[in-house]
Amino acid sequence: MKYRYVGKTGLLVSRVCLGTMTFGNKEWGCDEKTSINLTHVFIEEGGNFIDTADLYSSGESEIITGNAIKDFRRDDIVLATKCWFRTAKTPNAKGLSRKHIIEACEASLKRLRTDYIDLYQIHGPDPRTPFEETMRTLDDLVRQGKVRYVGCSNLYAWQVLKANGISSCMNLEKLCCGQYLYNLVVRDVEREILPACSDQGMGFICWSPLGGGMLTGKYKKADKPDEGTRMAITAEYSLPRYWHERGFRISEELVKVAENLKKPAAVVALAWLLRDKRVTSVIVGARREKQLKGTLRAGEWDLPGELWTKLDEVAEFDHGYPKMWMDTTFPLTFGEEEF
Ligand SMILES: NC(=O)c1ccc[n+]([C@@H]2O[C@H](COP(=O)([O-])OP(=O)(O)OC[C@H]3O[C@@H](n4cnc5c(N)ncnc54)[C@H](OP(=O)(O)O)[C@@H]3O)[C@@H](O)[C@H]2O)c1
Repeated sequence: MKYRYVGKTGLLVSRVCLGTMTFGNKEWGCDEKTSINLTHVFIEEGGNFIDTADLYSSGESEIITGNAIKDFRRDDIVLATKCWFRTAKTPNAKGLSRKHIIEACEASLKRLRTDYIDLYQIHGPDPRTPFEETMRTLDDLVRQGKVRYVGCSNLYAWQVLKANGISSCMNLEKLCCGQYLYNLVVRDVEREILPACSDQGMGFICWSPLGGGMLTGKYKKADKPDEGTRMAITAEYSLPRYWHERGFRISEELVKVAENLKKPAAVVALAWLLRDKRVTSVIVGARREKQLKGTLRAGEWDLPGELWTKLDEVAEFDHGYPKMWMDTTFPLTFGEEEF
């Protein structure tokens, strides 16, 4: 397993991060025994980075994760969790207010049975709470020793910049890492978010790097996914994301490349993301040991450059404006510099 620094911090994490959204999920996940085994396999194979959230399986994922890591030295693990989603029906039990962040963090620490969280992430943007309040609260948690680093997920690029700009002015802890949906099929982050995180010296970790299973090559072009698969159970949001002509074309080409390399398609899909040095780690989800073992090799294997380019072309997507303007206009004005 290879390790990368989280942006410009001194924190090292494994290139593959263990996602725990499947832990305790009764519909498309795995029970506690399997989840604990997955965690053991992951750590024994050199993984040190584990991602959970208070949302997952209504808190059950954090409880199971806490039980799973107790057999290891806590300081050897980089434990990430998140807050933002509603945790009760009452008005304040959601979002990024001082009241909710502190309550959510205390509850996560209890469920995880630990006295600190390595990376505490805001799971989404709160349109009502000022960033001054949110960033001050996150900074307080760091000063109190409950949290080591703070990060974000699913924020717009301008919000990342605004949050860190406010932190700079107020001398507070900055967001050091972004967690976003990124895979060969869904590449929107390349427009604004990935460059914004890179500009900020932040790490970048990819959720759903296998497109919820699409990029393992197991789904063939058909009218609908087989019953019982995650793609079928989460059809409402998974099908519009992946179950289309472009999704199948990318998956088919990925499988061809993988077959030539004699590697699993999943490993090639993850290695494609990791070839970009702005990407720190890919968060894989699994519900079986065989699945996890089938993806962990991406932690140490590098995709050759020409194959990265080939897949990049197959998975071409529209960057839209202003890139379209830049492609034609920028070279006319800034064409001659070597660097
Ligand atoms: N920040 C956010 O908003 C956010 C959102 C989503 C996820 N996440 C994080 O990202 C993690 C990963 O997300 P994800 O589960 O969507 O990722 P994913 O890696 O794209 O998909 C994982 C799913 O793919 C299938 N799979 C995995 N390995 C396989 C293999 N080798 N062969 C065949 N099928 C395989 C399994 O589903 P089936 O067996 O059921 O087909 C598994 O549940 C989560 O656990 C969570 O930590 C964060």
